[in-house]
Amino acid sequence: MPVTHAPAPTGGQRGERAGTSASGLAGFGKRVDVSGAGKTFHTDGRTTQAVQDVSFTAEPGQFVSLIGPSGCGKTTVMRMVGGLLPPTTGTIQIDGLTPQQARRQQSFGFVFQEATLLAWRSLLDNVAVPLQVLRTPKPQREARARELLDLVGLADFADHYPDQVSGGMQQRCSIARALSFQPGVLLMDEPFGALDLITRDRMGFELQRIWTSERSTVLFVTHSIEEAVLLSDFVVVFSARPSRIRAIVPIDLERPRSVAHRDDPAYYNYVRDLRKMLDA
Ligand SMILES: Nc1ncnc2c1ncn2[C@@H]1O[C@H](COP(=O)(O)OP(=O)(O)OP(=O)(O)O)[C@@H](O)[C@H]1O
Ligand SMILES: [Mg+2]
Repeated sequence: MPVTHAPAPTGGQRGERAGTSASGLAGFGKRVDVSGAGKTFHTDGRTTQAVQDVSFTAEPGQFVSLIGPSGCGKTTVMRMVGGLLPPTTGTIQIDGLTPQQARRQQSFGFVFQEATLLAWRSLLDNVAVPLQVLRTPKPQREARARELLDLVGLADFADHYPDQVSGGMQQRCSIARALSFQPGVLLMDEPFGALDLITRDRMGFELQRIWTSERSTVLFVTHSIEEAVLLSDFVVVFSARPSRIRAIVPIDLERPRSVAHRDDPAYYNYVRDLRKMLDA
């Protein structure tokens, strides 16, 4: 299977400084360089080679999806990039820093499959948590949290608590929280996995809209080929374990992407080709 390398950055638009927000923060997408990364786990006398020789580069502000069969190591790659797990082999650099250094500089926003909100805090206060940790003064962090809630369509629910809103709304809130401090890299591991299909569809387009205005570099794990094609600049396809990259497929579809793209033969061809790769 051919391995196509990630395209060069296109004009750098998305990598440039985003407009300053209510908090005065400016967003930068950071470059993610993964080079020959591998991970072997040693647990209870058993050795599991989760991934080997993973290499790809996400240019600042690019949207990159990782797809592959269950257990092929997508979460492992995300954890290594996010500085939560050291690679056994190879290197990972975030704008030239190690993931641990980048993590200390608050470079990462994480969104997992299930929203992990604090039950005793309102949605507004949940979104403001990272800014509180960063000691952003209260008026600025509230302004930023409101701006983000508005962006994810939750402006009218700022004072609600997590158990007073739906699962999809909770997940939108956790996306707002991950974006609150304008991370250089947004790591999203099946963020829409727990949502029904219609909400999921809508969230994908919402995410594209948010990403267009916030300009983080995004690594996005999904089991949906359609979602990966609609959202990504390129898709990293993993083989089954012991997992390697099978292909890196640039998605050359005009942005912003919309439902209309589903009628585009080019979209259909990408979906078909990726499905074939995953079935092979
Ligand atoms: N902490 C760990 N200790 C031992 N083995 C692990 C650990 N974490 C992951 N693995 C193993 O590494 C492999 C890759 O796991 P990983 O969770 O990265 O897969 P995945 O692609 O995210 O799967 P899924 O699509 O089901 O989420 C699996 O075989 C898993 O059992
Ligand atoms: Mg996983």
